[in-house]
Amino acid sequence: MKLKTALFVALGLATAGTTTAQYNALKIPDTLSGTTFNLTIRDTFTQILTGNQTITGGINGNFWGPTLIWNKGDVVHINVENRLADTTTIHWHGMHLPAIMDGGPHQPIPPFTTWSPYWKVDNNAATYWYHPHLHMMAEEQLTMGIGGMIIVRDATESALNLPRTYGVDDIPVMLTDRKFDALNQFVVAHYGDSMMTNGVVRAQRTIPAQVVRLRLLDAATERSYNIGFSDNRTFYVITTDGGLVNAPVPVTRFLLSAGERVEILVNCTGQNGTSVDLKAFNASLAPQVPGGESFPGGPFANALGHADFNILHLNIGAPTASPITTIPTTLTTNTFYPESSAVVTRTVTISDSAIGGGGPTFLINHKFFEMDEIDYHVPLDNTEIWEIKSTSGFGHPFHIHDVEFHVLTINGAAPPAYQDGWKDVIFVPANQTVRFIAKFNDYSDSLKPYMFHCHIALHEDLGMMGQFVVGNSPAGIMNKVKNAKMKLYPNPTKGVINFEMENGIVIKHASVINLHGQQVFEVALNAERAELNVSALAKGMYFLRLTDTEGGSYIKSYLME
Ligand code: C2O
Ligand code: CU
Ligand code: CU
Repeated sequence: MKLKTALFVALGLATAGTTTAQYNALKIPDTLSGTTFNLTIRDTFTQILTGNQTITGGINGNFWGPTLIWNKGDVVHINVENRLADTTTIHWHGMHLPAIMDGGPHQPIPPFTTWSPYWKVDNNAATYWYHPHLHMMAEEQLTMGIGGMIIVRDATESALNLPRTYGVDDIPVMLTDRKFDALNQFVVAHYGDSMMTNGVVRAQRTIPAQVVRLRLLDAATERSYNIGFSDNRTFYVITTDGGLVNAPVPVTRFLLSAGERVEILVNCTGQNGTSVDLKAFNASLAPQVPGGESFPGGPFANALGHADFNILHLNIGAPTASPITTIPTTLTTNTFYPESSAVVTRTVTISDSAIGGGGPTFLINHKFFEMDEIDYHVPLDNTEIWEIKSTSGFGHPFHIHDVEFHVLTINGAAPPAYQDGWKDVIFVPANQTVRFIAKFNDYSDSLKPYMFHCHIALHEDLGMMGQFVVGNSPAGIMNKVKNAKMKLYPNPTKGVINFEMENGIVIKHASVINLHGQQVFEVALNAERAELNVSALAKGMYFLRLTDTEGGSYIKSYLME
């Protein structure tokens, strides 16, 4: 033992300036599957460094919560219990769902309350995630490590010969970096000095000598990662944020920005007994790319800035019993919206604004985010081109809620093959313009907005965010119209209204909205019909809005006499 220690020290000295091989086992978050999910958010103690434990955020007792596994077509019900001393929210990043279920800044979860959204999963198989989204608190709550990964499965992906044994040949890899104080506690900083992979510093994992899938998620508050392997091997991108690409894209490097997910295949067949590092080659990033800057001495200075560093040390071990050993040649056939189907082009500007002392901050459409200002009213079923035009001297990962989009051009050119798929985050390089096309279908709600913003948490918190509502009825209130299935009587009424649904549709939530769009009555239900006493409301026109078990909405107007 003593000899070994002496040898280790001697080796350490001999290789001074290079990394010593002191690795920690990569944590693989537990999975939760089914259709009902209970997530409890509370402060947690985690042994990250030697010595003091670190106070982290946690879900169900873990720093970074469980991986949620959902099947396309299932209705998922989630109970999010907030046991923090602060209000928070949980946003389902990438999900196509009703705005009231989205978990953005407009769905706060006060301390010691439970929020229970539900909707029908309608996304393609891919990797998504969940994280806090409280306005001005995103950076702090994300730093604490509240959040986790979501894996959606569907029939198309399941039919492919791809690795999908979680934790064996299908590995979640959440990338963040953190700064620690002298007591091993997290410092809320834009950049950290320590790379953390699934919440572990200097992580390592043994993978089998075969084709392995890595699900990469950039969950950092700011940093991008220029992904590659230490031996510069070719690997294969198989997904963008919102689904499979048409065919695996061979690459040796690609840029993963805050909020983005990319699944890759790496072929380790025949490499039993060797090792390789998954790395960030950030020394070659331009200084206008988050993580490519070097700021000696400044507030953004950090040990990983403009440097190459390890993400995950991979030991290649014995193959499994029935290994996948080849990379498929095709994956799916995506049908993207033709450019000609767009009915409007919205120009969204990104610009710099110098505010006193605190350094530059960044604006969308030349203004700061306001909770009660709606930037766009998007008619339901509109196909739109969004042109994100940056005059900022820094690059920003632009994210939009509700929809997956397809990138048309990046500074006039078609996107690289590894970005040619469904996406919800796109990196907008400094002083460039990105155009994408999206269709805003299925869900509309003129009261509850969806967000679009820079996914750098600090920028978002400082107001680099906007919001849009989907829907345009005469009164500005209309949801996916399923009115035929809903009866409302008597109308006019003197104080009591009844609704009755057809085809066994069960209503979970009823609310009454006045002509100003304000919600003036609400009640939780679990019924196909009910009598509602709305006699406390003044005379006039109202809308009754019902929400069913899948998150679908039904609206009818009525008159109170
Ligand atoms: Cu991942 Cu609006 O966020
Ligand atoms: Cu999102
Ligand atoms: Cu930004």
